[in-house]
Amino acid sequence: MSKKTIAAPANIAFIKYWGARDLDHALPQNSSISMTLERCVTQCTAEAISGDRDEIWLAEQGGGFSSPEPDFVHRIEEHLDRIRRWAGRDERFRVATRNSFPSAAGLASSASGFAALTLAAAGALDRGDGPIEELSRLARSSGSGSAARSVLGGYVEWPPGDDETSYAIQLARADHWDLRDVIAVVEIGPKAVSSLDGHRRTLTSPYFRKRLELLPGRLERVREAIDQRDLGLLGPVLEEEAIDLHLIAMSSQPPIFYWAPGTLEVLRAVRELRQEGLHAWATMDAGANVHVICDPDSEEDVAERLEDLPSVGFVIQDSVGDGPESEEPHLF
Ligand code: DP6
Repeated sequence: MSKKTIAAPANIAFIKYWGARDLDHALPQNSSISMTLERCVTQCTAEAISGDRDEIWLAEQGGGFSSPEPDFVHRIEEHLDRIRRWAGRDERFRVATRNSFPSAAGLASSASGFAALTLAAAGALDRGDGPIEELSRLARSSGSGSAARSVLGGYVEWPPGDDETSYAIQLARADHWDLRDVIAVVEIGPKAVSSLDGHRRTLTSPYFRKRLELLPGRLERVREAIDQRDLGLLGPVLEEEAIDLHLIAMSSQPPIFYWAPGTLEVLRAVRELRQEGLHAWATMDAGANVHVICDPDSEEDVAERLEDLPSVGFVIQDSVGDGPESEEPHLF
């Protein structure tokens, strides 16, 4: 039986997916734009097997396998069912997965995880080379919508559309613009409120509609900044977007506070770095950790400064990357 291993990267959103028209199908209210990362990846091996049930494993960093939590197993099984329906096949899968970075810490582990699972399982059925639009749609249907963007490398836009048309497209390849992402980890462990609940609550925030009005202008600026490789244009939009996401979360009913004290400490340090002439701008997803987007010349100074902050546990230095890759050896 055929076996496939894929390493799929996380992505960091410049314009966020926050709020859905149809949460069951992960159809967003607005277009989002992200940068696919290089080092923060999920590896996933899938093998089509005979038998009547799927086998799901977590591959440990030091070798060996463990059983994931039942909720996690359930989400994976549901997604494998979608992949079987899409491929018109009924084989079961043996699946093992491993993250190169802390899971569930707002570092988009679901995006890389479901992108890797989608591509590995499709590959195990010899359908992994199918049109990327279909694979992106399939990854989106996992419910972790941002997975739709992680099937592509470089700079990626995912428009709202309907179930057929909502898939990600590449705006520019990674080699178009070498940007770095210095991730300041101030909190590890699962976030208190899932993105799913966050999306669900967005409509209760009085600021949600206002953000939707502002988005067409912001999207235009981000597309232009990518096209022109203009960090001075991109940076302020990045920060506006991140603050708006958290403003909406904090003003939702019931409110969601993703920030930790360390989040503010990092945001202040990034402002100071800019005053000193570095090109560095902050963004956050639904979590406390801060992604500092900067140019290659600023990266080391940014990383050193953030590492020294008392509330920063550690720093991950990542960059724009080429997207998912087929890998060997397999995880099993
Ligand atoms: C804040 O529904 O894709 O990261 O399933 O946790 O990956 P997960 O979340 P998803 O929402 C992503 C929300 C976001 C913004 C973004 O990546 O666009």
